[in-house]
Amino acid sequence: MENKKDILILAIESSCDETAAAVVKNGRMVLSNVISSQIALHTLYGGVVPEIASRKHVEKINQVIEEALGQAGVELADVDAVGVTYGPGLVGALLVGVAEAKAIAYAAKKPLIGVHHIEGHVSANYIENPDLEPPFLCLIVSGGHTHLVLVKEYGVYEIIGRTHDDAAGEAYDKVARAIGLGYPGGPKIDALAKEGNPRAIAFPRAHIEGAPFDFSFSGLKSAVLNYLNSCEMKGEEVNRADVAASFQQAVVDVLTGRTVAAAKEYHMERVALAGGVASNSALRKAMEQECDRHGLKFYRPSPIFCTDNAAMIGAAAYYEFCKGIRSGLDLNAVPNLKIGER
Ligand code: KG4
Ligand code: ZN
Repeated sequence: MENKKDILILAIESSCDETAAAVVKNGRMVLSNVISSQIALHTLYGGVVPEIASRKHVEKINQVIEEALGQAGVELADVDAVGVTYGPGLVGALLVGVAEAKAIAYAAKKPLIGVHHIEGHVSANYIENPDLEPPFLCLIVSGGHTHLVLVKEYGVYEIIGRTHDDAAGEAYDKVARAIGLGYPGGPKIDALAKEGNPRAIAFPRAHIEGAPFDFSFSGLKSAVLNYLNSCEMKGEEVNRADVAASFQQAVVDVLTGRTVAAAKEYHMERVALAGGVASNSALRKAMEQECDRHGLKFYRPSPIFCTDNAAMIGAAAYYEFCKGIRSGLDLNAVPNLKIGER
């Protein structure tokens, strides 16, 4: 039996290539976290094929939700609200989760809460860190986003840094493709980099004039491509592990350096990591060391809560629920939803 005052959220996530559902108690306790990954399917094409993603979501979503309720040992009637990612993401993929959540909310007479996917990534930090409360600084690094945000209150964000071109995850994926590792690139570079020398090749660390907390990764990606081309022209064999390690070191240096500088500038004592790239082993280690060195408290979700999942959506939905925020049954998918927007 759940305590009467406990708030249970059934959360649904389908913005990209994972069909996911979770039951989260009081925003921080994950009762179930079911993820049906489509990675194997998209690997055949070297990236996510939107049409295939939508079709797979339709096929899996009911089963995933049933499993999430079953593993949590709760009935739909016990749930206090349904939270769902409504943007940003692939429109066809988002629509599957949104339509499903609306149908459940309507049929079971439950409040509906539309959640911003990236705010979900940030909220993943609440799950295993009962002491983490705003304000804190969060570095968001996913396939589509690279942002430094001040989390001022629950659900209140101020963006203080952003990428001018590629997202960090996108850079990982493109470089992985260039060195023949395939999709998804991030975890493969992470693994291969362990066998390489991070100081072997001097790849650039881009600074943006007048924007000390912004990022740019397209020059780094081009530098890797140029390096590979010049090796080919000279007939030299490429040490892929060195390329992976040196590229990763450039990304990690920039991300950690700018995050620590921003924490100082904005007087933040707590720093958190969010998004798929937050599961990167080198980034986690470097960020921990740098935060330690500068007297900052460092938080990061376990890898399973870094990449796309519904537990993080349940955590974000809980804080919206507590503020009385509800979505109407006219909730629609918003593929380019901006952070902090409703
Ligand atoms: O947050 P996420 O699961 O989906 C988006 O919302 O975009 O992030 C996916 C991104 C991909 O670019 C993937 O290559 C990257 O996160 N990623 C990693 C690692 N695991 C996933 N990048 C570096 N190292 C990893 N271990
Ligand atoms: Zn994501």
